[in-house]
Amino acid sequence: MTHTELLTQSTTLLQDSTQSIDARLTNICSLLKTQISHYDWVGFYFKNGNKPELKLRAFSGEPTDHIIIPFGKGICGQVAESNQSLNITDVSGEGNYIACGIDVKSELVVPLFKNGENIGQIDIDSHSKAAFSDQDDEFLTAINREVSKILD
Ligand code: SME
Repeated sequence: MTHTELLTQSTTLLQDSTQSIDARLTNICSLLKTQISHYDWVGFYFKNGNKPELKLRAFSGEPTDHIIIPFGKGICGQVAESNQSLNITDVSGEGNYIACGIDVKSELVVPLFKNGENIGQIDIDSHSKAAFSDQDDEFLTAINREVSKILD
């Protein structure tokens, strides 16, 4: 499936009001992980209430111990503060990194905005080095824009 087709299908899944928001987010994670070969783990983290930390809300792939990530910690915590995507081509060279699986080689985290506020992010892990391009960043930015529409 192309990025355009995946975006259309994601929009359809997000609009399925028979499903809870969490179930819809999980469906997006499963769709992307299944359809894009270099996406080996896909998850959504969101700001945890008023606390300066992220909380995992939905994912597809191996379960992780890192349900809560403080702002500033790891790739995810850095994106929570910088409001900018981080594309890590080789996680072994990254000092501020939280390992989630021994097979992970590269990672892309793209912030998710609601009314201009950075409220969360989509996090993708790959088992290949330098797996992610600007096209992935643009595609995931578009996915996040659709997700933000169904969130309060
Ligand atoms: N590697 C991330 C933590 C989340 S796991 O990839 C699921 C990080 O450094 O923030």
